[in-house]
Amino acid sequence: MVSSADLDIVHVAVLPGDGIGPEVMAEALPLLAWARERGRPISWEILPYGAEHFLRTGETLSEDNFQRIQDHYDAVLFGAVGDPRIPDGRHAEQILLRMRQGLQLAVNWRPCAPTHVCQIPWKGAHPDAIRLEIFRENTEGPYGLKGRSEPGLGIDEAWHTEPAIMRLLEAAFTRAEASRQPLTLAHKANVLKHGHGLWMRCFQQLRGLHPEVKAQAMHADALLCALVQHPKAFGIIAADNYLGDLISDLTAAFLGGMGVAPSLSYAPHRPFRCCALAEPVHGSAPDRVGQGTANPMGMILSTALLFRHLGWANEAEAIEQAVARCLEAGETTGDLGGTLSTTQAGQAIRARLSSCA
Ligand code: NAD
Ligand code: IPM
Ligand code: MN
Repeated sequence: MVSSADLDIVHVAVLPGDGIGPEVMAEALPLLAWARERGRPISWEILPYGAEHFLRTGETLSEDNFQRIQDHYDAVLFGAVGDPRIPDGRHAEQILLRMRQGLQLAVNWRPCAPTHVCQIPWKGAHPDAIRLEIFRENTEGPYGLKGRSEPGLGIDEAWHTEPAIMRLLEAAFTRAEASRQPLTLAHKANVLKHGHGLWMRCFQQLRGLHPEVKAQAMHADALLCALVQHPKAFGIIAADNYLGDLISDLTAAFLGGMGVAPSLSYAPHRPFRCCALAEPVHGSAPDRVGQGTANPMGMILSTALLFRHLGWANEAEAIEQAVARCLEAGETTGDLGGTLSTTQAGQAIRARLSSCA
């Protein structure tokens, strides 16, 4: 990751979004204030884009406002998008997918652990450490093409380009090398001969350039079965946008569920000042809105990933350790078996920050 030492102030656009997005974001915002108190040069602004704003104003994310995000901010902290009142999800496409694609955030990093520094105290079926990290291409595949519907017919096409594939795979190989983890490419080149055929050619090329990485390609269907049966046999998993979406929800289950999994999207080929986007893997969880039961850990750990991206490793590690200590102590929301509300879970993590920093 590039150091932020040369940045004056890191400007963060905060988009809480829909559903439980604002509820979990409320537990991440104090971490921005905490980082600033520790001398980190950070400022943030809360932006309203989401379902409420769309229903009130008719605006999802205008071209001008997208440009402003691109030009003015160094990072986006995003809650969640999705609202039952907008069943076609068009605002999700025009806000979240617009940012991922428009900012060319080809790499979506979804580590399946509260930290890649300390180990998750997993209480489920796999007692030892599972160290999975999903590298999901974030801008292509079936996302962003229009497709069409006719009576009795629905068409969604997928597209894959060499630059985006290479950026994603380079990031995955680099991480595999640094973490000494094996790398697995998930694909369906046996069926998707054109798109995933290209992925395979890119993969072979990079495998030749990284002989020290133990790399294999696996059919995605077989991989999913093997992942559930032998999660510890895997490390870094690279995938296209669609498969990466599915795989990262599966791996979130190893952490205890959707509430814990973090992600960071970034554009390795663009200047550092171009936005990175941190967001939990989960969605707006309409079934939990307003109940205070949403787990804020995914949002909080995404904030830690952003801090790490900015070069603020001490703060990132402190947050990850604080989350790990809360997990050990059972100080969690109900999805992980605890009794805490969203707010209490956020407070519990913050209470442990000073001893972890
Ligand atoms: P979801 O992730 O919102 O919820 C799936 C399940 O996980 C639900 O049972 C929910 O209660 C649970 N869950 C999610 N977040 C949780 C949290 N923080 N703590 C505890 N439990 C949590 O997925 P869905 O139900 O398929 O989708 C709901 C809406 O969210 C849809 O509109 C979808 O398009 C959208 N969505 C958005 C994003 C995003 O903003 N990145 C991601 C996924 C889904
Ligand atoms: C995710 C979500 C999104 C995706 C949706 C909401 C567009 O599922 O971030 O994983 O499919 O990428
Ligand atoms: Mn998803």
